Amino acid sequence: MMNKLEISPEHQHYNHRLLQRILEPELMEDPKQVQAYAQADFSEPNDHFMQHLNALVGVSGFDGYALDLGCGPGDISCRFAKIYPSALVDALDGSKAMLDYAESIMPSELSARVRFIHGKLPTVSLSRSRYDLIFSNSLLHHLPEPQALWHFIKRYAGNGTRIAIMDLFRPQSDRQAIEIVEKYAAKEPEILQHDFYHSLLAAFTPEEIEEQLREAGLNFEVERISDRHVFISGTIIFK
Ligand SMILES: C[S@@+](CC[C@H](N)C(=O)[O-])C[C@H]1O[C@@H](n2cnc3c(N)ncnc32)[C@H](O)[C@@H]1O
Repeated sequence: MMNKLEISPEHQHYNHRLLQRILEPELMEDPKQVQAYAQADFSEPNDHFMQHLNALVGVSGFDGYALDLGCGPGDISCRFAKIYPSALVDALDGSKAMLDYAESIMPSELSARVRFIHGKLPTVSLSRSRYDLIFSNSLLHHLPEPQALWHFIKRYAGNGTRIAIMDLFRPQSDRQAIEIVEKYAAKEPEILQHDFYHSLLAAFTPEEIEEQLREAGLNFEVERISDRHVFISGTIIFK
């Protein structure tokens, strides 16, 4: 596993404590990487995310405008649109290769309600100025500067907008990161195991996320929902 993961020389002190995040490339643009990611089995974490998202939306359902940030191949954008037949979903990603893949696998019956938008946060300007729900899975750890996400959310939220964000959190050591990769991705292609390992190293700790939210003035809940995922949720209230 160690060789397969191709740990870079500066990470080769196995069991090093991960005191600081180690950035990975921001956008996922390599066609091989896109294909491996899109074809991987993320059913368990994506189901988990949908459960938390549905709980946030509540029994009254959803019939407004939703924004999916860093939508990748669009599995979650499409699942959301299927569950809520009156929802309109804008799904944003900075990688054209990812969006081309997403378009190619989107069920045709959703094409009138799911719109894939090519653009990079935080500089992209969206045609709609407010969304009723903003969600995102596995984007935060890609961002060199995390306030890009929290400021972007504030820019496109209105009073009452609900927010649901899930991401990996950084393990305590590179040994732990390797154990997580072995536990959850042993059967996945090498390129995916490599990306997963580096995503864990690039992720924030729940405490760092709480600090980011304080700095952004966002009163959201931060919850560890698995041995590797954190769920951040709340409602925007303008005073
Ligand atoms: C790990 S994937 C997650 C995809 C999807 N949300 C999912 O749950 O499967 C992260 C995605 O975020 C995109 N991304 C990274 N930084 C971005 C940015 N600044 N603006 C827009 N998209 C970004 C990447 O290109 C990639 O497609």
